[in-house]
Amino acid sequence: MTPTLPMSALRRATRALSRGLFLDRQAAFWIGQVDPTWSPREVRARVVEIIDETPDTRTFVLQPNHHWRGHRAGQHTTIEVEIDGVRVRRCYSISSAPSPARRLAITVKRVPDGRVSSWLHDELCPGDVVGLGAAAGDFVLPEPRPAGGLLLLSGGSGITPVMSMLRDLDARGAVDDVVFVHHARSRDHVIFGAELEAIAARRPGLRLLIRVDDDPRGDGAFDEARLAAQVPDHAARTTMLCGPAPLMARVEQMWARAGASARLHRERFATPRPATTEPGAPVAVRLTRTARTISADGAGTLLEQLERGGARPASGCRMGICKTCTCRKRSGVVENLLTGARSTDPDEDIQLCVSVARSELELEL
Ligand SMILES: Cc1cc2nc3c(=O)[nH]c(=O)nc-3n(C[C@H](O)[C@H](O)[C@H](O)COP(=O)(O)OP(=O)(O)OC[C@H]3O[C@@H](n4cnc5c(N)ncnc54)[C@H](O)[C@@H]3O)c2cc1C
Ligand code: FES
Repeated sequence: MTPTLPMSALRRATRALSRGLFLDRQAAFWIGQVDPTWSPREVRARVVEIIDETPDTRTFVLQPNHHWRGHRAGQHTTIEVEIDGVRVRRCYSISSAPSPARRLAITVKRVPDGRVSSWLHDELCPGDVVGLGAAAGDFVLPEPRPAGGLLLLSGGSGITPVMSMLRDLDARGAVDDVVFVHHARSRDHVIFGAELEAIAARRPGLRLLIRVDDDPRGDGAFDEARLAAQVPDHAARTTMLCGPAPLMARVEQMWARAGASARLHRERFATPRPATTEPGAPVAVRLTRTARTISADGAGTLLEQLERGGARPASGCRMGICKTCTCRKRSGVVENLLTGARSTDPDEDIQLCVSVARSELELEL
């Protein structure tokens, strides 16, 4: 027979537990007042330095709390800040190499009219504390490194993840048969220009090719024929690509024509926004972890609908790139707005930010 607790003992235990939780919350509040980077669970980081890289790009050096688990060169993090009372998140590639000092850096280009990048440039100061997501993403150098050399190919602020890779190789003394090709609007807009030159000067294993649109020597912007002439074995190299969408599209086509797409690894900062959807008949979305049910009518993505319903699922890029919003769908039908693919089987992972409900759903949230 299962032993039962007398009612009074049960009440006492419940009261002690709630009092304990209350005290924990109070303690968390007061510790947070003394050290804003302290948190029982979340990664928070203090801004320790801000570096002007170019007229529109700044690096923010961050010292995270003990919840930070580090990163692999090429991965991104999600930064969370409060703007006008609203908490907003954006993804940024980590531009620094993995470091035993546990510091990391993000390098942010100011986007005209961009909400978060402009705020970071205008408002964030040394000493301020921001929220961080765990490092994520599979844009990392393949291990072990395949034969055939490495090509790091970037444009504009897309240099950040590949710079992290180069810094990592440099720190490990592993800059061996690396070609770094970077495209920028002008000499003044070359992010990390001086450091790249310095690494190239001391590492014979690095060949650096900087291309700028207004180069008086006529170097110009991305050009397939020039790349092929200057890096004749480009298609044989493991290539890490990140840059503006038009540059990426041209490189992808060039590699596809050469039959080398399998050696081309890509990181995107943006995708076309998913098509908006018309409202349909409302369906119930049951959140199994929090035992809540939210009504979704198909207008907007599942992420937007859950947020409107009061849930706070994790999110980052909100455009299907970073996978921060990935969640397990226990049952129901979901359509991916980017690909048109339908997830109909139980226990499939879906991305909330680019999905809409096509039936009642059960989500592990
Ligand atoms: C994996 C990843 C890594 C990244 N790494 C970096 C990095 O290292 N450095 C970096 O600078 N950036 C990086 N980004 C981009 C970054 O996440 C932000 O997207 C960028 O900083 C712009 O954010 P914002 O809030 O300033 O602009 P937003 O306010 O989000 O606006 C961005 C642009 O979209 C337009 N826009 C806004 N809303 C709409 C709408 N509803 N419809 C149409 N257009 C709209 C705006 O006018 C603006 O031009 C990365 C992104 C990803 C996904
Ligand atoms: S929030 Fe980045 S993939 Fe959904």
